[in-house]
Parts: sequence; C-alpha cells; structure tokens
Amino acid sequence: MSENSTGSATAVIEDPSAEPMIKVEALRRSFGEGEAAVHALKGVSFEIPRGELVALRGRSGSGKTTLLNLVGGLDSADGGRIVIDGTDLSTLGEEGLLELRRDRIGFIFQSFGLLPILSAAENVGVPLRLRKADPKEREDRVGLLLALVGLADHANQRPGELSGGQQQRVAIARALANKPALLIADEPTGQLDAETGLAVMELLRAVVRSEGCTALVATHDHQLLGLADRVLELRDGEIVEED
Ligand SMILES: Nc1ncnc2c1ncn2[C@@H]1O[C@H](COP(=O)(O)OP(=O)(O)OP(=O)(O)O)[C@@H](O)[C@H]1O
Ligand SMILES: [Mg+2]
Repeated sequence: MSENSTGSATAVIEDPSAEPMIKVEALRRSFGEGEAAVHALKGVSFEIPRGELVALRGRSGSGKTTLLNLVGGLDSADGGRIVIDGTDLSTLGEEGLLELRRDRIGFIFQSFGLLPILSAAENVGVPLRLRKADPKEREDRVGLLLALVGLADHANQRPGELSGGQQQRVAIARALANKPALLIADEPTGQLDAETGLAVMELLRAVVRSEGCTALVATHDHQLLGLADRVLELRDGEIVEED
C-alpha cells in the first residue's frame, strides 16, 4: 500500500490513485430475448481498491465469465456502469477499449491462449510488440518476467514442450508484460492439478504484491480463496460478499 497521506480530505478525493481500481454499479447483462432470455447479471455492484487480490466464486453459470468480460472491456453491458482505473468504459469507443485492454489490463485465461509456434520468451513479448516497445526494453522485460515466474531456463521452449503449469506461468508472465494496472483471470488453474494450481495461485499472489497491480480472479479453487484479500460470490447473477 503506497497511499500518500497528504493534507485535507479534499486532496485525497482529488487524488486519482485514491479511486478504486474497479467500480461496478448496477451492472446488467442478458442474453437472448423474451421468454428464453438468460439474465446473467441482474444489477451487480461492487468496488475493488487498488492492490487487492479479489477472488470471484460462484457455481457454473452464475455469471463469472460474463462479469470478467464486461470489466475487461471485451463485451458491453445492457445497463449500469463500469469504471476502471478512473475511466468510465462507456466513454471509450472501440479504439479506446483496445488501448485499455492493451495497455492497462492483463488477461489470463483457463486455456492459456499461447501461440504454439512461438517460444515462451516470444509469447511473453507479444504484448510488448503490439505496443511497439523498443527491442532492448522488450528483451529486458521478457527476461525479468520469465525469471519472476521461474522459467528463465525454459525461455526457448514452445508451449508444446512445456508442462501445463509451465504454460500457465508463461501466460501469467505475458499478462504482466505491459505492467497492467489490472489483472483479470478466468479460472487460471482450471486445467491444473491441485499442487500445480496452488503454485500458480501463490505466484499470482506474489505478483500482485511485487508489481503492485490489482487482480480479479474467477475460481472454484479453495486454495486461492484462502490467498485472496477478499472473496466476492456471484449467486444467480447477483453479488453476495463473503468474509
Ligand atoms: N454468449 C452467450 N449467449 C447466451 N447465453 C450466454 C452467453 N454467455 C453466457 N451465457 C449464459 O449466461 C449465464 C452465465 O454464464 P457465465 O459464462 O458467465 O457463467 P460462469 O459463472 O462463468 O460459469 P462457469 O463456472 O461454468 O464458467 C449462463 O446461464 C450462460 O448460459
Ligand atoms: Mg466461466
């Protein structure tokens, strides 16, 4: 926590870093029409302060992926408001959303989403290439990230030559490439055995501390639920907060 404690309450309110990383208000999203409509999110509201690791749990079909897609600017809501890092997503056009996803959000998916023909190092470097980062900066950052996730010795292996847990760690390193303010992960340990899953979750926990980012992680994993600063539960499209 690096909140600076300057002066009056007004100064604190005007300080953008005092804003929550995620503010969601009365968010609604339905799929389909009329009788057949599925109301995946029925007015969801919550805030996540900067620097927290928050787990999102809920039964299959409770709306976790729907919520993560909206918060990450991959889908648009039917109603309500999402403010990420001080930006109201409804004020952004396609271009703005693209920049937000590229520069401020890191995504980690259950299926890893690595490019099979690229090495671990090249996969981690993809977001830096998209941002047209300087090659030297890219090389340094990739090296640092692979070391951070314990894969310095596997930089040149392709995903098919890595274990599931190693691939997931490459995906985490890639999500961190552009120093995102926000990490969004959808069941990042869903394909891993319990022990590897715990190692990946502990890595995420450590990364949120060391990089100072905020993370929202959908999971059924009880071990992660224990590592999180907070657990939000979705029940039938509505948020129920747990201790
Ligand atoms: N593109 C879509 N079209 C129609 N219905 C959808 C779509 N996406 C999600 N839904 C529905 O919305 C509800 C919430 O789905 P969602 O994928 O958010 O659940 P989830 O909590 O992520 O579940 P799981 O744990 O199985 O991943 C489900 O009833 C689902 O069938
Ligand atoms: Mg899901």
